[in-house]
Amino acid sequence: MEKGDNKGNLKKEIEDVLMSNLGSIGFIDSGVGGLTVVKEALKQLPNEKLIYLGDTARCPYGPRPAEQVIQFTWEMTAFLLKKNIKMLVIACNTATAVALDEIRAKVSIPVVGVILPGSRAALKATQKNEVGIIGTVGTVKSQAYQTAILSKSPTTKVISLACPKFVSIVESNESHSPIAKMLVAESLKPLKKENLDTLILGCTHYPLLSPIIQAYMGTEVKLIDSGAETVSEVSTLLDYFGIAAAPQRISLTHEFYTTGSPKMFQDIASDWLQLEKLNIKKVYLSTLSQ
Ligand code: DGL
Repeated sequence: MEKGDNKGNLKKEIEDVLMSNLGSIGFIDSGVGGLTVVKEALKQLPNEKLIYLGDTARCPYGPRPAEQVIQFTWEMTAFLLKKNIKMLVIACNTATAVALDEIRAKVSIPVVGVILPGSRAALKATQKNEVGIIGTVGTVKSQAYQTAILSKSPTTKVISLACPKFVSIVESNESHSPIAKMLVAESLKPLKKENLDTLILGCTHYPLLSPIIQAYMGTEVKLIDSGAETVSEVSTLLDYFGIAAAPQRISLTHEFYTTGSPKMFQDIASDWLQLEKLNIKKVYLSTLSQ
């Protein structure tokens, strides 16, 4: 091999390492829920480096006042902006409902939420024009899904239900337990008498419970996980802004941060993402107010 070839290879390697640190896509959630969106991103956007932050120490966001959720969302956004992200995905319905517009207006990178993509997917799926939404108390109270769906299709019947107990089941890694099954049945009972054929999982934690939810609601009800639709939107925006990553010659090391226990995060994340080794670090957000 020529000396020049070695130099060329080294230069390429250095470029690759630099590229892998530049322009990642950031994801935020109150805990592990946003991993349901990350799972789709790993599938649909294999060239992109992903950086994830879950605010597990302050999860759940669902019962908190909107002002506090907005403040926490800003703290997470600030953390990821320092990591040079080129796009931000608010992979949390509760935060999307109250903070998306404000954050989008104030930061210079594209910001994507999960509510519009989920609403679009539901409208595509429903045959009976009757859609159910389950989410946190904050999301249901905000009526963000109703607003999004009715603005596109005013005749659609929208029924929403808060399921405040689901998030802690997921965060404590009990999604496959008999308690989870019991809780799902108990919480979703009011929806059984409705005529809906489409149910939006309006909290990014809920897809981890989808086998149980599907079994309870029956196969005639289509479950909408906004993750896939959200990542399609991310993909479109990457192309639109001309910022999609080129195919990588080195394998990407995605970064995961949690404000809680990295061990618990690792257990849930590696099972859900089917990845053995994850690069997870505990972080302390600047003014970690509880
Ligand atoms: N995963 C979040 C959502 O989509 C938040 C759940 C919570 O912290 O209450 O709403």
